Amino acid sequence: MIIAVDGPAASGKGTIARALAAHYRLPYLDTGLLYRAVGLNVVRGGGNPSDPDDALAGCRFDDLLLSDPKLRSEDAGATASIVSAHPAVREALVERQRDFAARPGGAILDGRDIGTVIAPHADAKLFVRASPTVRAQRRHAEMAGMGQQVSVDTLLAEIRERDRRDSTRDTAPLVQAADADLLDTSLLSIETAVQRAIALVDARMAAR
Ligand code: CDP
Ligand code: CDP
Repeated sequence: MIIAVDGPAASGKGTIARALAAHYRLPYLDTGLLYRAVGLNVVRGGGNPSDPDDALAGCRFDDLLLSDPKLRSEDAGATASIVSAHPAVREALVERQRDFAARPGGAILDGRDIGTVIAPHADAKLFVRASPTVRAQRRHAEMAGMGQQVSVDTLLAEIRERDRRDSTRDTAPLVQAADADLLDTSLLSIETAVQRAIALVDARMAAR
């Protein structure tokens, strides 16, 4: 059983994917972390994320890097969005993600291109969405919880810019797969969003 969860920043896809992983007892891969790690490598090495060679040189991972709290910042998300537009970077990360998806017991992955590129034959695909304002408010609340005060307007501008970059790139843009179920979480509590997600996946599995 392979489940693909895609969607824009702060749509709630990570929360939903983790809950599905627990519900169906599947291993979970947050593929955004890989792109965030590449971006962090480039910045730490003094490279330019817009330069394809610098970005490709940043495609190295270890467990320490992938657990670095700095990966979670909005800055790291913005840098990830720049390095992830290079086709060579996406190519360098494909095998790792496909290997994870091919685990014998199944797997769940979340990102931008899981249902379209990484696992086009996934058993269930969710495209998670929420309005930009709601997403900016969520990030704001998240950051306030960590003692960081960034205005909703600033976060809204960052989210719109990241949406634009992720949706307009030539390689593996953020787009809903034709056979994905749409889940808009704008007005949903986490509990309700997770219940809906489980119902959608169950319906897909029953129809197979
Ligand atoms: O959690 P959030 O949605 O804010 O970001 P993320 O999933 O960690 O992804 C960070 C950035 O990595 C995105 O804005 C994309 O540009 C890129 N990404 C991608 O291109 N493909 C993926 N499968 C996952 C992330
Ligand atoms: O992974 P992604 O960036 O799409 O979003 P997330 O990290 O799962 O969710 C972003 C924030 O929105 C988190 O603080 C979640 O707790 C919150 N959230 C929410 O308030 N309502 C939902 N239905 C889903 C997530």
